[in-house]
Amino acid sequence: MKRLFTGLQSSGQLHIGNYFGALKPFADMYAGYESFLMVADYHSLTSLKDAAQVRTNTIEVVKAYIAAGVDPAKAIIFKQSDVPAHTELAWVLECQVTVPFLMQAHAYKDKVAKGLEANAGLFNYPMLMAADILLYDADVVPVGADQRQHVEYAREAAAKFNLAYGETLKEPQELIAEEVAVVPGTDGQKMSKSYKNTIPLFATPEETTAAVMSIVTDSSGERPENVYQIHKLFRQDIDGLYAENKGKYKVLKEALAADINTYLAPMREKFNSLTDQDVQKILSDGAAKAAPIASAKLVGVRQKVGVTL
Ligand code: ADP
Ligand code: TRP
Repeated sequence: MKRLFTGLQSSGQLHIGNYFGALKPFADMYAGYESFLMVADYHSLTSLKDAAQVRTNTIEVVKAYIAAGVDPAKAIIFKQSDVPAHTELAWVLECQVTVPFLMQAHAYKDKVAKGLEANAGLFNYPMLMAADILLYDADVVPVGADQRQHVEYAREAAAKFNLAYGETLKEPQELIAEEVAVVPGTDGQKMSKSYKNTIPLFATPEETTAAVMSIVTDSSGERPENVYQIHKLFRQDIDGLYAENKGKYKVLKEALAADINTYLAPMREKFNSLTDQDVQKILSDGAAKAAPIASAKLVGVRQKVGVTL
């Protein structure tokens, strides 16, 4: 079986963009691989300074994957900070790449372009992500299109290491579900927690309805395009509904809210049935399985670079 590795940061409340872009594609494919699913809690520190939120989000990510259909018995689910080999290999990889190379990373460049101060963690983010992937000899890395560059960085880091020290790290391949369009947010831009335009995944039906009613519609066309695009994700047979209700944005939004709530009800029920203790158990079992694999890889790396005497 080929090995699959992916991760999600514990940096914010999950939204329906995360579901269609990351959770659902993973839940649909993970069983065909030996799958590793990691909560990137150390990565989240590059943007989040609130400890309580880091904890809540970490737990939410695990519950979300299980609610989306992942069976914890069939995947290794763990958190990054539980396996110290990740930060250790990241350091070794940082010593292989140059500053100008890391300056090309979109996440860092965007922050600087906005005139914001980037912390050193954000700058080194791609090498921690490369370590995540390379420790497990991953064959494929399913990610959203916005993460393509990060997997390329992992490939480059592996190639540079291998060139310097001999064949050690496996070059991974990204797997991008091209058919998953970018889910638009309530303001028409890409849905993203940074834009505060999200429809939350695990909210109450009332909160969901309120978010849907706040979708900004463009009154120039007969069909509110962003309402329609989101609606299509939840229900295919909606063309008749939109033809019958031209210009009736309120009716269409109410129909969308009802369809989202129906679609998500079983997932939300599963999410709410999981306790924090269930999550702790899943993560400790996962770490127990992931750590020996990561450590074995790191032993080889430490020998090659000369820190093992
Ligand atoms: P956000 O943009 O809210 O900060 P992240 O960057 O943490 O979300 O993304 C986590 C995962 O969800 C990534 O794999 C990303 O590709 C996917 N994702 C995020 N927003 C969307 C969206 N609007 N449409 C599709 N996929 C998305
Ligand atoms: N950077 C990814 C994101 O923001 C999360 C992530 C961290 C990841 N490590 C990874 C994804 C390793 C795939 C493989 O979505």
